[in-house]
Amino acid sequence: MNSDVFQPKIVAFCCHYCAYASADLAGSMRIQYPPNVRIIRTPCTGRLETEYFMKAFEYGADGVLVAGCLEGGCHFVEGNLCAKRRVNYTRDLLVEIGLEPERLRMGNLSAAMARPLADTITDMVETVRKLGPSPLKSNGKERSAGHCPAANTPESNGKSKPESRL
Ligand code: FES
Repeated sequence: MNSDVFQPKIVAFCCHYCAYASADLAGSMRIQYPPNVRIIRTPCTGRLETEYFMKAFEYGADGVLVAGCLEGGCHFVEGNLCAKRRVNYTRDLLVEIGLEPERLRMGNLSAAMARPLADTITDMVETVRKLGPSPLKSNGKERSAGHCPAANTPESNGKSKPESRL
């Protein structure tokens, strides 16, 4: 990795049933993707709220990727469609606060799509690299990811799902 080139931090919320399995498969197949991505497993992208995306930016992400099941393939029926609406809603919020909406993206994959996942991650990294560091980082200082609520999955904190606002 060239240290002179901006290395964006990408948080990828990956559905356990598809994108997370694809990332696992990519590893088994030795398909490479940029190491800029931090994958957070979620039971379903429908679990994700707008505040999760915003917290990821607040805690230092330059870009956020939401990777869910193919449309019509969500194990919780419409979770990925809810996530799509929330992602679009949040992209509008990003514009309102002066951020590029390209910093937040949703992709739909199956568990067998290791190569498309790697391509999606690579494209996301290149897109955000061109945009530059997120202006939400306060003078290069980031809050500790160790306290990032977005990193707390239901498995890790045992809390129930918060109420949906969309
Ligand atoms: Fe994968 Fe819902 S189970 S997005």
